[in-house]
Amino acid sequence: MKNQITIDPAVGKLGILTPGMGAVSTTFIAGVIAARKGISLPIGSLTQMSNIRLGKRTDNRNPKIKDFVPLANLDDIVFGGWDIFEDNVYEAALNAKVLDRYLLEQLKTDLENIKPMKAVFDKKYVKNIDGPNIKTANSKMDLAEQLMQDMADFKKNNNCDRLVIVWCASTEAYIEASDVHMSLEAFEEGLKNNDERIAPSMIYAYAALKLGIPFANGAPNLTCDIPAMLELSHITHTPIAGKDFKTGQTLMKTIVAPGLHARALGVRGWFSTNILGNRDGEVLDAPENFKTKEVSKGNVLDGILDADLQPDLYKDLYHKIRINYYPPHGDNKESWDNIDIFGWLGYPMQIKINFLCKDSILAAPVVLDLALFMDLAKRAKMEGIMEWLSFYLKAPQTAPGLAPEHDIFKQLSKLENTLRFLMGEDLITHLGLDYYEDLKKEYEELIQVYS
Ligand SMILES: NC(=O)c1ccc[n+]([C@@H]2O[C@H](COP(=O)([O-])OP(=O)(O)OC[C@H]3O[C@@H](n4cnc5c(N)ncnc54)[C@H](O)[C@@H]3O)[C@@H](O)[C@H]2O)c1
Repeated sequence: MKNQITIDPAVGKLGILTPGMGAVSTTFIAGVIAARKGISLPIGSLTQMSNIRLGKRTDNRNPKIKDFVPLANLDDIVFGGWDIFEDNVYEAALNAKVLDRYLLEQLKTDLENIKPMKAVFDKKYVKNIDGPNIKTANSKMDLAEQLMQDMADFKKNNNCDRLVIVWCASTEAYIEASDVHMSLEAFEEGLKNNDERIAPSMIYAYAALKLGIPFANGAPNLTCDIPAMLELSHITHTPIAGKDFKTGQTLMKTIVAPGLHARALGVRGWFSTNILGNRDGEVLDAPENFKTKEVSKGNVLDGILDADLQPDLYKDLYHKIRINYYPPHGDNKESWDNIDIFGWLGYPMQIKINFLCKDSILAAPVVLDLALFMDLAKRAKMEGIMEWLSFYLKAPQTAPGLAPEHDIFKQLSKLENTLRFLMGEDLITHLGLDYYEDLKKEYEELIQVYS
């Protein structure tokens, strides 16, 4: 055992606030309340369902993660958020059509009581939707101050000890980091001058970080992946994480690609297409919003199938991604992957994956785990980029100059070792030679007895 990091206990209530209270957010909230009432299990959530091995394999110590690290209890969570529509969470969940009405009726009173606060919204960043529940102000700095007031009021009115924010709002139009994002000073100037390169998600992130509230970004927008936010996160000692929840087709990609790579199989082409018909799909139907998603999804394979390191296997890899808005399917996304691979002597083979998934069902446990781990990180005095949470993200934010790790198995190992590190347990390398040293010693003793 190493020294344990001092972690403040998870006493009192944790407020989880989501900018955006659409399909993902309402599925997350309804799911946690259903789990709390014993109606269903929080499947897909590592914090609630998974075990972690501690010590040697022969020690048989495999506690549940939630029993190993001091996480907030599901009963202690209070939900809130912002949306451009006024629907309460019950109405928004009905509209999203992810969960069945029978389940929602059982949760109706709890869900109806959660109403979105007025959003910071700019149609320039999300063309395909518009709504009435929007803040007005003279400057983006005023908007940030209004958000800070919302956060402080929510904390007080709901008797919360701590807050965490997870961005679950629509994907914004593609922008690249420019001078206004490069330092906190430039960013704050930009807020005062209504610089159009400051997107609404950045205003939420700024407000959260100013108050020391951990902020995780579930969409592919730049948001906190800019030097100004990194600077602020260190000034206020606040954890940040992003970007883009890893679900659906990309989840499959980061499961399959490491396997092909592990067996030194070549990949010539990977064509991914999917259809989805929820509001997220509608937003992504606009080319400038699709571009944000495309960039986030596109880099996943490069990191795993590295053409520079292994040109014989991956130099000609053609990777194409298509997302098609198809309303009849709603949240039931259907994706197809055609993977052209080659093996021994270059002989070609193909893999076809047809994944019929429910996007929000895969995303909801990611929101829960990100929120609980970000709160843990804050109580453990961690600050800045939480790369150990890459496991949950399509385009993980990393230290400047550091390539992100996309392989889901390496990401899991990093996550678990971070938890072991925080709790003063030995890190697990999977070397395992010690078992065989012990065995050898046993045989040597036996040989001595018989000789
Ligand atoms: N579902 C998944 O598997 C998945 C995976 C990765 C990323 N995401 C991302 O998560 C986000 C949410 O997905 P969803 O399916 O819930 O979408 P959704 O369209 O159902 O919900 C998004 C909500 O955000 C609201 N909104 C938009 N701009 C806002 C703003 N500035 N402030 C407050 N609210 C705002 C919209 O009104 C909408 O209700 C999207 O950006 C999506 O790309 C989802």
